[in-house]
Amino acid sequence: MLAVSVVAAVLASLLAGCSLSGGQGAVRDVPAQRPLPIPPVAESVIDDQGRRVVDLDILQTAHDFGAGEVSGTWAATAGEALTYLGPTIRVQRGETVAVNVANETDEMTTLHWHGMHLPARMDGGPHSMVQPGTTWSPTWTVDQPAATLWYHPHPHGRTAEQIYRGLAGLLIIDDPDADTGLPSEYGVDDVPLVVQDKAFTPEGGLDMTAGSDTAVGFVGDTIVVNGAIGAFHEVRHERVRLRLLNASTGRVYRFALSDDRPFHVVGSDGGLLPTPVQARTVQLSPAERAEIVVEMQPGETIGLVSRTPELGGRVDAARLFGGGTFDVLELRAADQLDASPPLPPVLADLPEVEASEATHERSFTLGGRIINGRLMDMGRIDEVVPVGRTENWSVTNQANQPHNFHVHDGQFRVLSMDGDAPPAHLAGWKDTVYVAPTTTVVLQVRFDTYTDPGFPYMYHCHLTVHEDQGMMGQFVVVEPGTPDSAVSSPAG
Ligand code: C2O
Ligand code: CU
Ligand code: CU
Repeated sequence: MLAVSVVAAVLASLLAGCSLSGGQGAVRDVPAQRPLPIPPVAESVIDDQGRRVVDLDILQTAHDFGAGEVSGTWAATAGEALTYLGPTIRVQRGETVAVNVANETDEMTTLHWHGMHLPARMDGGPHSMVQPGTTWSPTWTVDQPAATLWYHPHPHGRTAEQIYRGLAGLLIIDDPDADTGLPSEYGVDDVPLVVQDKAFTPEGGLDMTAGSDTAVGFVGDTIVVNGAIGAFHEVRHERVRLRLLNASTGRVYRFALSDDRPFHVVGSDGGLLPTPVQARTVQLSPAERAEIVVEMQPGETIGLVSRTPELGGRVDAARLFGGGTFDVLELRAADQLDASPPLPPVLADLPEVEASEATHERSFTLGGRIINGRLMDMGRIDEVVPVGRTENWSVTNQANQPHNFHVHDGQFRVLSMDGDAPPAHLAGWKDTVYVAPTTTVVLQVRFDTYTDPGFPYMYHCHLTVHEDQGMMGQFVVVEPGTPDSAVSSPAG
């Protein structure tokens, strides 16, 4: 018990120095005292079939976020031992990847490749259970643009807790044929940022329940980036690229720089934007990503902060998440900065989208915890989608609560948000989109290549407590003309 009381004392002293800027949901101020940890790149080998093979072990761990060791965390390792989060898996467009996911915990889990276009049986959704002591070995060929994706567990009803314990990592796709000229030295001027909120019990354990009575489920008062409280990063180049992932359960961030200087958004969930988009804020709901490029002057210190999010409807963001601004990461520029290449004016080719390209429409209504009036049923297929057909999906949030919408098997495009064209930074490839209360977001989707009438993909709200409570549905992708009688779910 000695260790526990030491942790409690350290946490208490951390808390003593800080101010709470609001009520429930507010984030405490922590001085930036720890160098930002950079998740290592997963080790891999190329096997005799030319596949990139990663051995990924899921472990129960204990982790020091910066205030003493906390038990009950999870990590994934592939090479260097980790105590929280998993390594960054880097794959190349065009190559075949195989991952051996070994579950060394005492709980059932699954591992999902969020944002990836791949066969349903490789997707790691709730049907792909990996029992304790067993290994699951999905393999697929990467065929989509360079992007910052991520991986996380997806067992039905347990996703929020397992991600919260630390099972999550980045999955970066590189395209050897597309040299963008963006900063690309991993961990130096190309920096992954897995942003989460946590709460700790007075004894120094992980608090799973904070804010569980709010409209978004869990809300923590402590920000951790790559598993560290109060992190700073030393910048050594004129420009730094930040790959932002909101890996929180329910918190929405509105990222900005502390002096409100503009930066450039260069990428969204599923790839680079056609051109850099200048912005002063970028808002991310859970599971969304953005890549931004920040310019710095020698010797200066600025903060990556989060301001009160704009949630729409009658949602009181300040009440949910605490009002005002909190620090996420301090950026400290060295006295001499290495020159960076200029920001490229053109980043990627992005096909134009037109609503009229679709030959089928579907609609999804988001209620309190239901989609189209129903709770998730592992045995029920909700939608049957022919392969290769362009469809428009209208997603309406009927509740006065924040929700977002995520679709498996790749990337979609946003056609409209509440009747308007999406802002430029949301007009690229997306797999998760915020749906403000009482608004409709129209997505254009198309699922190519893979069909399987007997194994579904998921669509769901990615506020993971909502998802766990049943705010999820299942779709299969089939050859055109497949009879309904051929469609089934493994749990049906
Ligand atoms: Cu990020 Cu269905 O998942
Ligand atoms: Cu996903
Ligand atoms: Cu939701």
